[in-house]
Amino acid sequence: MIARRPALLLLAAAVLIFLAVVAWRLLVLPSALSFAGGTEVDLSAYVGASPTGVPAELAGADELTKGKYLTEASDCAACHTAKEGKPYAGGRPFKLPFGTIYTPNITPDRETGIGAWTNAEFLRAVHKGIGRRGERLYPALPYASYTLLTDADVLAIRRYLASLPAVRQANLPNTFSFPFSQRWLMGLWSAFFSPNKRFRPVAERDAQWNRGAYLVEAAGHCGECHTPRTVAQAMDTRRKFAGGQAEGWNAYNITADRLSGIGAWAAQDLSTYLTTGYAPGHGVASGPMAEVVELSTSRMTPSDIAAMVAYLKTVPPVSTKEAPAMAGPAPTIASAGSAGGDPAGRRLFEGACASCHAWTGRGAITPDQQLTGNRAVNDRTAANVAMIILDGSGSPQHARAYMPSFRSSYSDAEIAAVSNFVTARFGSRPSRIGAADVKKMRDQ
Ligand code: HEC
Ligand code: HEC
Ligand code: HEC
Repeated sequence: MIARRPALLLLAAAVLIFLAVVAWRLLVLPSALSFAGGTEVDLSAYVGASPTGVPAELAGADELTKGKYLTEASDCAACHTAKEGKPYAGGRPFKLPFGTIYTPNITPDRETGIGAWTNAEFLRAVHKGIGRRGERLYPALPYASYTLLTDADVLAIRRYLASLPAVRQANLPNTFSFPFSQRWLMGLWSAFFSPNKRFRPVAERDAQWNRGAYLVEAAGHCGECHTPRTVAQAMDTRRKFAGGQAEGWNAYNITADRLSGIGAWAAQDLSTYLTTGYAPGHGVASGPMAEVVELSTSRMTPSDIAAMVAYLKTVPPVSTKEAPAMAGPAPTIASAGSAGGDPAGRRLFEGACASCHAWTGRGAITPDQQLTGNRAVNDRTAANVAMIILDGSGSPQHARAYMPSFRSSYSDAEIAAVSNFVTARFGSRPSRIGAADVKKMRDQ
């Protein structure tokens, strides 16, 4: 008995140390730019062009033009506009496992929007995630990123929003269940994961890199979708940009890893993708990324796109097994007869897809219909392929061709079958999704 006591004490100490390490790993995460090394300095101490504000092309523009540019670079419209709703009037639902949250109205209406807010209240909401009555806001408003925006830029956004037509539209309450309904918990969350700190450039890096960092980390909030989350739902900056989730879609690895990330993309391809939503050989941006491009990156100046690309290229590679190597050359058999795979999926592909995409997957009409070489088709969860089939891709307003939605014409089982056929024929590892998976995606 006595001999066992020291052993028990040792064991208890080991357990305590283990728990402390786990808690520390969970609660203390590297800052957005710590991967870059170097010294982060105050904006005023940075030698070189300021990385904040509008790009040089807009230096002489009026205040509202500048505010509009920053509002678009921060993509406030994507979340604060409901499908077919008035811009910025809110009401767009975000479905989470514990309930649905709706974005509020941020038009200048004094009763239902933010027309009566003071500048200080607006700054506090965007930087700290605190609402007008002092209530904590959920990080569905990406304040963990926006906290990096300068006061001047947030107020320029405010001035632009204040110039828009006021829309009278009441906010919808969220349907969060207990304990997620407790807003004060977000105060704890913020204390650890959204420190109230503005952007600090890295002294050793040039002005273009720092401008890219500001646009990607603060305004563009790319990490909110592309960085995996910890169990506490914080961006896991140890695996920065290694791939995350957005409304049922996979937001792929955009680190410099050549196989699982975008390390093999030429800088020009990345610029083209962010500017037009399509890069030859890499496919199209669909779903949430299509919105990012349409409402935000496609409206940015060439110098800003170049800065973002220069910055992205320096994010350290993280290899992820969820995004396996891309498939080799496209199938050359140009007919249905010899195509293998699930017969039900093949029949559907023949009837609904082959006329546009061709049996080789190289696209029958336009190059953006190519099914080979893009990440979605090589993703064995088939999440994005199934979402594209459900929702379609592109829009009739585009210069490019677009793909219709098959939401109402096919059952869950049919969409699963044709998704599995597409990944098997054109990707590196076939998916095996079922009707139940598609049902879940449909509800997103
Ligand atoms: C990813 C989606 C998303 C983006 C992008 C986004 N918001 Fe929001 N925003 C939300 C959600 C969701 C809420 C509600 C949070 C809550 O109820 O706790 C919110 C709340 C707000 C509020 C508080 C309004 C109120 O009535 O309490 C303001 C102000 C706001 N957002 C401004 C902005 C601005 C300005 C931008 C762009 C710089 C922006 N948001 C971008 C999702 C977003
Ligand atoms: C609202 C969530 C969201 C945000 C914000 C977002 N992305 Fe994406 N991104 C996605 C999704 C989802 C995909 C996959 C799209 C597809 O399959 O067509 C994607 C795809 C990409 C790709 C292509 C990756 C590949 O391997 O095909 C690049 C590059 C990219 N995003 C860059 C960015 C950059 C840069 C930003 C910030 C300016 C950004 N994204 C912001 C969701 C997002
Ligand atoms: C009317 C022509 C048309 C039909 C029919 C069609 N597509 Fe498409 N598809 C397109 C176009 C055009 C695009 C590129 C859309 C864009 O620009 O966003 C596309 C994109 C895609 C993508 C994304 C490719 C990428 O680069 O990431 C997938 C996957 C896809 N289609 C699968 C299918 C499947 C499966 C079917 C049958 C159920 C189908 N499509 C039917 C025209 C079509």
